[in-house]
Formats: sequence, C-alpha cells, structure tokens
Amino acid sequence: MSDANLKFAAREASAPPSIPAVQIHDLSRTYGNMTALSGLSLTVNRADLFGFIGSNGAGKTTTLRILATFLTPSSGRAEVLGHDVVRQADRVRHLIGYMPDFFGVYKDMEVTEYLDFFGACYKIPAAAREKTVSDVLELVGLSEKKGALIGALSRGMQQRLGLARVLIHDPQLLLLDEPASGLDPRARIEMMAILQELQRMGKTIIISSHILSELQTLCNRCAIIERGKLIYSGPVQGVREQMSETRVMWVRATPEATALHLLQQCPAVHHTEVIEGRIKVTLVSHDTDPAILAETLVKGGARLTEFRDDEMGLEEVFLQVTKGETQ
Ligand SMILES: Nc1ncnc2c1ncn2[C@@H]1O[C@H](COP(=O)(O)OP(=O)(O)O)[C@@H](O)[C@H]1O
Ligand SMILES: [Mg+2]
Repeated sequence: MSDANLKFAAREASAPPSIPAVQIHDLSRTYGNMTALSGLSLTVNRADLFGFIGSNGAGKTTTLRILATFLTPSSGRAEVLGHDVVRQADRVRHLIGYMPDFFGVYKDMEVTEYLDFFGACYKIPAAAREKTVSDVLELVGLSEKKGALIGALSRGMQQRLGLARVLIHDPQLLLLDEPASGLDPRARIEMMAILQELQRMGKTIIISSHILSELQTLCNRCAIIERGKLIYSGPVQGVREQMSETRVMWVRATPEATALHLLQQCPAVHHTEVIEGRIKVTLVSHDTDPAILAETLVKGGARLTEFRDDEMGLEEVFLQVTKGETQ
C-alpha cells in the first residue's frame, strides 16, 4: 500500500463500529404531487461496497441527495453514521463525499488548482493542502496529470478527478451517483478498481446504477428500487433466487410438433414458445421438478436431444422484476 493509502486508511472511524454507515427509515419524498420515494427503509453497513440499483426515475438520485443533505425528506428519516441528515446536516457533510451524476467541469482550471480549491472549501490548512491533493491524485491514478487542464482530460480521467474531489476531506462514506455512466469499458474497469481499493481502506461506498450487471462483481450488497419503493435488499448473489419469478427450461426434441403438444398438455407447464428451433418452457412454479418434462416427452414418443436449465442473466432478472414500468 502506498503512503497515500496509508494516510487515508489510518484515520479512525468517529462513530462506534456497531452503528451502520447508513440507516434509512420509512423515507418518502414528493415533488408536488409526484411521489419520488415512498416508505424506503434500508441499511448500509460499514465498509460495504453497496450497489443502489433502479431504472431511470426509480428514485436513486433523490435518495442520494437526501443522504448528501441537499434535499430534505417529505417524511421519514435517514442517518449517516448515526447522525440525522436533517438535524445534523453539518456533521453529515463532513462524513460524506457526494459525487453527483452531473458535476460541473471546470474546463479551464488545472487539476491541482481545482482540488486545492475544494480543499480550501473544507478548510484544510494551506500548508497541508499540497500533500492532501497529491495523496488523492495518487489514489485515483492521476499523479501524472497535476498540471493538466481539466478540459484536456479524457472522460474517464474527469470522472476519477471527480472522485479525487470527493476524497479531499477524507470522508468515511462515498455517495456516487452513476459514476460509471458514459465511460468506455476500460475507464469503467479503472474506476471499479479504485472503488475496490477504497473499500479495502475501510470506506463505505454507495454506488448507483441503472445497470444491475455492472455492479454484479463489484458490490458485496445491493438494493433494488422501483418507483420509489424498495424491492430487494441483500447480497448481490441473492438477487437471482429471490427475484426471478419463474423457472425456464430449454428443450430440443423431435418431432417438434409432438413435443410442443405434449408440453402444452403438461400441468407443470405454464407457457411454451419456439425460439430458433428450441422450445422455451416456462414452468408454473420454481418448485416444479423439471424432470417431469423429460418424462412426459419420452413417454409421449418424442426424442429428446437437448434439455437444460435457463441461465437467466442478472440483467434479465432485473428487467423482469422492474418490468420497465418507469420512464
Ligand atoms: N426536481 C424535481 N421535480 C419534479 N420531479 C422530480 C424532480 N427530481 C426528480 N423528480 C422525479 O422523481 C422521480 C425520481 O427521480 P430520481 O430520483 O432522479 O430517479 P433516478 O435517479 O433513479 O433516475 C422521477 O420520476 C423524476 O422525474
Ligand atoms: Mg439519477
């Protein structure tokens, strides 16, 4: 670990370890008569790399802005490391680093000037700022770009500079609103690697995305929201089991017409569809034993040439769950 990392890792957490990083309780927010968040309850533990997932308009930005103290809830409450985001907003601001989905790019400013400016905003003494700026730049892999104009940086580098900015006051909780959107795959991977490093240093990170699979390998826990309501919260691995409503099997059998007829008569089958020479069979429930299909087909005189479970991608599960009902 580099000196920069050690310095950031050395800071003691200010709240007792038993207090979660974030606790949201029955949080609602309306804009006029539009309900953006409705009774959201959620806990994020310390040192979680937490994925906050939902389609566009689901309420991710609204939630993150409330946690970042920029927006007040209509009802309910939220705490950051035990501090209420409304009543103790000043305290919360020092504990968090919030990276909005669109942040102004100061194109004509140099990288160090920009970070020095934000360091001053956080009242870091002038004498200490140079070292701090240098440390955060090292963390995000931009040490080589100290004197560069921001406008001349690639999009990926600008995003990493945004991350450096939110790290300048060494916050314990990072709130990152879709930081990977618009990045090419390489820049995305670089960004994810930095986030993993920050997690190893003990930071708690909440990262939002409308692409579930983007966070699949990165995050240890996640929440999925839809129309301002929580629909899942837990380990990333649990999403598929808990959320997928149906079980699907793929069958190839001859003669196809016979097989199709047999399957359609089978009480365990909810739906059949022929796709590129294979029959997609949706079972009535998760608990149905798919062996019953094979048995039905063979007994009915069809020859089975392929029979396998559907490996539904996480993204498909997500689309199934969210039903694309938001904007
Ligand atoms: N300032 C606002 N005024 C009115 N409606 C808003 C405002 N901000 C967000 N909304 C609405 O609230 C809902 C949630 O938005 P948002 O939190 O931005 O979702 P997400 O970040 O998941 O895309 C959307 O329907 C959006 O149109
Ligand atoms: Mg948003």
